[in-house]
Amino acid sequence: MTIQEENMVWIKAASYEELPVNTGKTIRYQGDEVALFKLSSGNIKAIQNRCPHKEGVLAEGIVCDEHVFCPMHDRRIDLSSGLVQAPDTGCVRTYLTKIQDGNVWIRFSKAEELAC
Ligand code: FES
Repeated sequence: MTIQEENMVWIKAASYEELPVNTGKTIRYQGDEVALFKLSSGNIKAIQNRCPHKEGVLAEGIVCDEHVFCPMHDRRIDLSSGLVQAPDTGCVRTYLTKIQDGNVWIRFSKAEELAC
C-alpha cells in the first residue's frame, strides 16, 4: 500500500508488532533499498541498505543501541544521522518513518535533505 504526497510517497513496510527487535529487514521500492530496524527502545529507523565502504548489506548488521555495525568490515553507522562513526568516514541516506494504524511506513522522496 502507498500514500502519494507532493514529491514523495509513503510505503507501508511492515507490521510494527511483527518486526523483530534489533534485526534488520530489507525493503525495496523502485530504485531504493532500505534497511529497516526496530530498536530495543521501540524506535524505528530506516537507512540506505548499502554500506558506503564496499556495499555491505546493513540490514544484516549487528545493532547496538542506536547504531548498526556493517557485517563486512564492522564500520559503525549512526541510525539517526546515517553518519559512519570515527575513525572511519562516510554516510548513508536516512529515511523518515512513521507508525500508523499498527504499521510502519517509510517515506521515499527526492528531497535533498534526505541525501547524505
Ligand atoms: S562494506 Fe561496510 S565496512 Fe566495509
